[in-house]
Amino acid sequence: MDLNGARAVVLGATGGFGAEIARALAAQGAVLAVHGRDAERLQLISAEVGGHPVAGDLTQPGVPDAVMDEAAQALGGLDVVVMSAGAVAFGPVAELDEAVLRQVVDLDLIAPILVARAATRHLGKDGVIAQVSAVVANQPMAGLAAYSAAKAGLTAFDTAFRREMRRAGVRVIDARPPHMETGLAARPLAGEPPGLAQGRDPREVADELVAVIGGSAEAPDWID
Ligand SMILES: NC(=O)c1ccc[n+]([C@@H]2O[C@H](COP(=O)([O-])OP(=O)(O)OC[C@H]3O[C@@H](n4cnc5c(N)ncnc54)[C@H](OP(=O)(O)O)[C@@H]3O)[C@@H](O)[C@H]2O)c1
Repeated sequence: MDLNGARAVVLGATGGFGAEIARALAAQGAVLAVHGRDAERLQLISAEVGGHPVAGDLTQPGVPDAVMDEAAQALGGLDVVVMSAGAVAFGPVAELDEAVLRQVVDLDLIAPILVARAATRHLGKDGVIAQVSAVVANQPMAGLAAYSAAKAGLTAFDTAFRREMRRAGVRVIDARPPHMETGLAARPLAGEPPGLAQGRDPREVADELVAVIGGSAEAPDWID
């Protein structure tokens, strides 16, 4: 796909990884809509990449559809969807509240499924949807059990959804990035992060993902 002039929406573009994905797409000439919840950071990233801002809490009923519809309307259609909204909760599952566990699954599994469902109404032949899962989908971690389960569920969904979309000519990308220095671990829904090794630079990781979306690079082992 030629990203120059492609109409792309990035959900979670107010986040550390999503912002780098939006920047990388804009650098390739994509026309953007950017999503987030935080009004101030949404304004900043939309001004930086010249993107149409769309706000919304993706765990609320109807919001994934509404966000996708607004983005498609603003851009006159969609060629690329990147779902990077997500959050983590740390700690043994026995110590986590029911509300937190539900929030992890709502945001990291249900919301991407609903974004994908909405994308089917907007993406045509040669369209691309990229979901941001995580390395824990393949290597589940103690202290991250619900997050690992949600991301593994998302990766399984992407594998099946890819088969469903083949006939329509839509590419489904499942990205499982390693730990990155985005500040995600400092904003958990609950708990304290374990001591983590230095993560990768999210800009480099975003560049690799956008190259795969555009078809200019082979997928590394963390992308299917
Ligand atoms: N950082 C890592 O090491 C790492 C590794 C593997 C995978 N990932 C995945 O990468 C994705 C991006 O993470 P990140 O590192 O960029 O984290 P981040 O900087 O904390 O960004 C998280 C993004 O998700 C949005 N978000 C959070 N709750 C939301 C909700 N209820 N409704 C709508 N949007 C919501 C945030 O919006 P607001 O800030 O506007 O609220 C923000 O745009 C996540 O799916 C994460 O699981 C991250």
